[in-house]
Amino acid sequence: MGTQKLNLAILISGSGSNLQALIDACSQDNFPAKINIVISNQPNAYGLKRAEKAGIPTKIINHKDYDSRESFDKALLETLSMYQVDLICLAGFMRILTKVFVQKWEGKILNTHPALLPKHGGKGMFGLHVHKAVLDAGDSQSGVSIHMVTEECDRGTVILQHTVNVKADDTPETLAARVLEQEHIAYPKAVRSIAEKQL
Ligand code: GRF
Repeated sequence: MGTQKLNLAILISGSGSNLQALIDACSQDNFPAKINIVISNQPNAYGLKRAEKAGIPTKIINHKDYDSRESFDKALLETLSMYQVDLICLAGFMRILTKVFVQKWEGKILNTHPALLPKHGGKGMFGLHVHKAVLDAGDSQSGVSIHMVTEECDRGTVILQHTVNVKADDTPETLAARVLEQEHIAYPKAVRSIAEKQL
């Protein structure tokens, strides 16, 4: 493998543990991607500290400073254009992107969803709601889906899934914790497979 790498932008809103998994993967010489910019819509997101610690440029684009989704997304697009980004990775990013944004970046936006899509996806399916839905449905398995982002929420092509067995005494919190461990493994794997195809 040469020195060419896929340039990533990671979009976050919170803790950024998936961001950390990607930072760790990208710190390996033979990993075919690097993070050019971390963008958060939440000024206090802990993930910003993780990025700073790793020496990665950060940018806060606070959605509260914009009066519409369109103007927020325009600011995102402007920032992305400054960092030569090849692939956007949503990592716990709690904003729905506009059609215009998604069309501009079609085929170049990845997301991690903490369930086995197409089950338990769509609007309103985020955070603990997802894990509660899995438990309420009586599913014996859950997991993570790393998928492409398209206009329809959580319906883009699935790149990779890792499964997790649901335990009889699981709560949404315990299930979320085991799924999150798998997200940390699956997300870098999916980025690697896309980078290897594209480079
Ligand atoms: C992950 O479970 C992700 O699937 C969901 O939010 C969580 C983000 O965690 N959308 P982190 O910010 O990467 O720690």
